[in-house]
Amino acid sequence: MDPILSGSKSVSCATCHHPRFNTADGISLGIGDGGVGLGTERVIDAANPPEKRIPRNAPALFNLGAAEFVSCFHDGRLEVDKTRASRIRTPLGGEMENGVATLLSAQTMFPVLSAAEMAGYFSENDVSKAVRQGVLTGPGGAWVILVKRIEKIPEYRARFDPIVGADDPIHFTDTSDAIAACSKRIMISMPQIGPGKATEFERHQGDEGRMRVTGDPADAYAFRTPSLRNVAHITPMVIAVLMER
Ligand code: HEC
Repeated sequence: MDPILSGSKSVSCATCHHPRFNTADGISLGIGDGGVGLGTERVIDAANPPEKRIPRNAPALFNLGAAEFVSCFHDGRLEVDKTRASRIRTPLGGEMENGVATLLSAQTMFPVLSAAEMAGYFSENDVSKAVRQGVLTGPGGAWVILVKRIEKIPEYRARFDPIVGADDPIHFTDTSDAIAACSKRIMISMPQIGPGKATEFERHQGDEGRMRVTGDPADAYAFRTPSLRNVAHITPMVIAVLMER
């Protein structure tokens, strides 16, 4: 929900993937930088219109943490590829930062570079300038500018200390790993349809799923998803990739 990762600090992932709109935005073509309002009420800001419209619909993000998903985006341009050392094929090839933990983490590195989604138009801010000049990694690179913003906020820095080491810098890949870990948890969750299960004396309508069975808060809102064997539409190729893991 924090817009800090957008060039002009005005757009967050939730601008287009909001829980209220089933982790999407409720409109055909989303509006990132240069828009105002949320969900179906989001419109272009006449005082600061975007350079280009986003060309595709923002998909809902449910279930993307499931192992069945081996590619991201409508055209699958980000995908598991075991022939590469990084194990992930990305549109950036060698320009990509190394060290992302998962496909979802690699995915998180892209919206922040898109002018229309989060970076903003050329000359608008430091991130969009770096993106337009093609400088992504290293000093002055877009990912480095963004991660420096995070480092300056003591609450965020403190959260990263135990992970990266208190004296070591945070890398953007650490940030994207963290967002991906959070997304993964949300995305095996599923939207509640109907009143859900609650005990007699509970007055709330929230179905806590697996946590009702185990009592473990880590299982809150987790629900069983189909096992691989039950997903008949999965192609043999995808199954082969997953079985090799
Ligand atoms: C301005 C709107 C917008 C913002 C902001 C945005 N996204 Fe998206 N997101 C999209 C669109 C549009 C697509 C589909 C793009 C495509 O297929 O080419 C997408 C695709 C995705 C996908 C792939 C889903 C799939 O099924 O393949 C994930 C995951 C995702 N976004 C997560 C994020 C995260 C994390 C952030 C924040 C760092 C973010 N998005 C910010 C619009 C947005």
